[in-house]
Amino acid sequence: MSIREICRYPAPVLREPTETIHEFDGELKKLVEDMWETMYASDGIGLAAPQVGVPKKVIVIDYNGEKYALVNPEIISREGSVTNEEGCLSFPGIYVNVDAPERMDVRYCDESGEAREISVDGFLACVFSHEIDHLNGRLLIDRVSPLRRQFMKKRLAKDAKSGD
Ligand code: NI
Repeated sequence: MSIREICRYPAPVLREPTETIHEFDGELKKLVEDMWETMYASDGIGLAAPQVGVPKKVIVIDYNGEKYALVNPEIISREGSVTNEEGCLSFPGIYVNVDAPERMDVRYCDESGEAREISVDGFLACVFSHEIDHLNGRLLIDRVSPLRRQFMKKRLAKDAKSGD
């Protein structure tokens, strides 16, 4: 396993279309392992492959010890809306209030290619939604008001300058 570099906004790979996984092979296994290690090293609870520079439909999530590796996830249904404070490893140090679904049904494959379905709610639904957004090039900064967006950009530019 190895820790990969996390791509920060505005890295272009965060906006790239992501590829569907067809081969559940050693390369995928290695990617998933590296993503776990990278996420834990940064104290994250979720990480999407584009965030480590790989535009593929792969996500890892560990919320309160419940671990999910999602390959080719697809939202089947979503319900309700709640506001939560969310952060993102591609926007280090920034936390913003955003709306997310209250409940979702998601279809995905596990790492070995087995098809699965899961219903998630509460904060876990927010995490699933946030990470699946990554696979569609949708980022935290797209989900805030124009004023807040400006603030986030300024803050990121300042951090980049100070070499943080
Ligand atoms: Ni994120």
